[in-house]
Amino acid sequence: MTQTFDHTPGAELSAADLATWRERLRAVRTVVVLTGAGISAESGVPTFRQAQTGLWARYRAENLATPEAFEHDPDLVWRWYAGRREKLLSVQPNAGHRALAELAERVPELVLVTQNVDGLHQRAGSREVIELHGSIHRLHPFGLAQPGADDSADWPQPPGEQPPRDARGRLLRPSVVWFGESLPERALAEAIQAAGRADVFLAIGTSALVHPAASLPLLAREQGAWTVEVNPQETALSARMDQVLRGAAGQVLPQLLAALA
Ligand code: OAD
Repeated sequence: MTQTFDHTPGAELSAADLATWRERLRAVRTVVVLTGAGISAESGVPTFRQAQTGLWARYRAENLATPEAFEHDPDLVWRWYAGRREKLLSVQPNAGHRALAELAERVPELVLVTQNVDGLHQRAGSREVIELHGSIHRLHPFGLAQPGADDSADWPQPPGEQPPRDARGRLLRPSVVWFGESLPERALAEAIQAAGRADVFLAIGTSALVHPAASLPLLAREQGAWTVEVNPQETALSARMDQVLRGAAGQVLPQLLAALA
């Protein structure tokens, strides 16, 4: 049965929440975490689906985040991503990112899977991060089906007004997954594998509307994991999780970490 604890964002978790969590983590081997845009919200990064302020409320995804858009106007797409990356480099990881980096030191195995392309988990100290939707901080040649380690390139400094070309003359593009593109195969395989062996699965700050990422918590649950959602709002996952913690990640995660001390 699902236990739902109704917290206002930022509220303190109850003793009962913390006791459940502590108990579940006692003999845990593998904790798998899936994060979405919500974990970076407190760093000042807009999420995708927030009404009015969300990225997809302000920009038309098909004009910017598709291969067709890049083909049609590579300079526009390049400049948009360069601006977005600049903003991401100017913000800081928050308490939620930091708590996850520390949690990795407290459990035998923590696999961190993110849909975010912002690099904030790594900047908070998380070492191995499975980036399901790629990274805005890398580039790869346009025309390849998906980013691969051997063809990734760094951003030029300054980025300039147009996408650069690689040694073979191919236009370089941000290594993020665009609409209509497949996820990086290796990252997806690793995430599915981890979800299958998770003892505890945390879904944090995701609306769980985009698959296959959104299927991971359910897959983990089917395989016997204890599943927890951390989100101030109800989502497509809420009714199917074992524990729902309604609150902001930057408030909830430090409390979960402290409970293990
Ligand atoms: P969404 O924008 O769809 O959802 C963000 C979620 O974060 C919502 O459920 C919010 O309630 C929650 N949230 C907001 N503030 C929060 C906070 N402080 N702490 C915790 N949660 C908070 O973002 P994603 O689910 O990440 O894909 O979106 C998934 C994918 O859709 C993205 O990776 C992107 C987008 O199209 C690609 O670009 C391929």
